[in-house]
Amino acid sequence: MDLTEAIYGRRAIRHYTDAPVPTTAVEQLIKAALQAPSATNQQPWAFGVVRGQEHLKQMSDRAKDYILVTLPRDLTLHHIADSLTRPETNVFHDAGTLIIIYAKPARFHPVEDCFLAAQNLMLAAHGLGLGTCPIGFARQWLDLPEIKHELGVPVRYTVVMPIVVGWPAAPAPSVPRREPEIVCWRETPGRGLSAVPFPFARPSPAPPSPG
Ligand SMILES: Cc1cc2nc3c(=O)[nH]c(=O)nc-3n(C[C@H](O)[C@H](O)[C@H](O)COP(=O)(O)O)c2cc1C
Repeated sequence: MDLTEAIYGRRAIRHYTDAPVPTTAVEQLIKAALQAPSATNQQPWAFGVVRGQEHLKQMSDRAKDYILVTLPRDLTLHHIADSLTRPETNVFHDAGTLIIIYAKPARFHPVEDCFLAAQNLMLAAHGLGLGTCPIGFARQWLDLPEIKHELGVPVRYTVVMPIVVGWPAAPAPSVPRREPEIVCWRETPGRGLSAVPFPFARPSPAPPSPG
């Protein structure tokens, strides 16, 4: 797949078919994640793989109980709390594969390195026709020492990004992006810095007020 197509075509997929993701594909995704840059080439990542739709549904139910208790009691979050109380809500979107990217203790920016690895993994999945969705909702629960213990993960490793993977049930609609906020763009033609015309579309100026 063309790189531009991959970057622009990847979407968070929240509906999956029941078709299993081959183990070789999971391995390929992890290998793509390893190609991410990392500060001083520390490669401070580790990966957890949990497979099985039923198992992930059970984990989702446990994660939901935890999220409901820990969710800030904020009026704006009521719709999230409502959705989490519904038995059919699955924070893992009924996917059959979950890959968790953990940051290992490291001197420089291990969390940022792991996010770069996550993006590589998601783009590689898209290239294979697979869908992915980052599951920030499950981070705190998966990061509990008892859950890491249950999964056999060293407690000193930190959950950075849980990502579900599966075959998309349908193409996801594109999600519009806002115009970039370019706060500074200076170039040096000849000597000294000079501002250049803004290269992106600007909002049109407000029409003059009548009278
Ligand atoms: C750090 C992070 C956490 C996210 N957590 C969730 C989540 O818990 N559940 C979910 O359905 N989507 C989650 N998403 C996906 C975003 O909602 C999605 O990327 C965003 O709406 C833009 O859509 P797109 O990825 O299709 O472009 C998360 C994305 C990121 C980057």
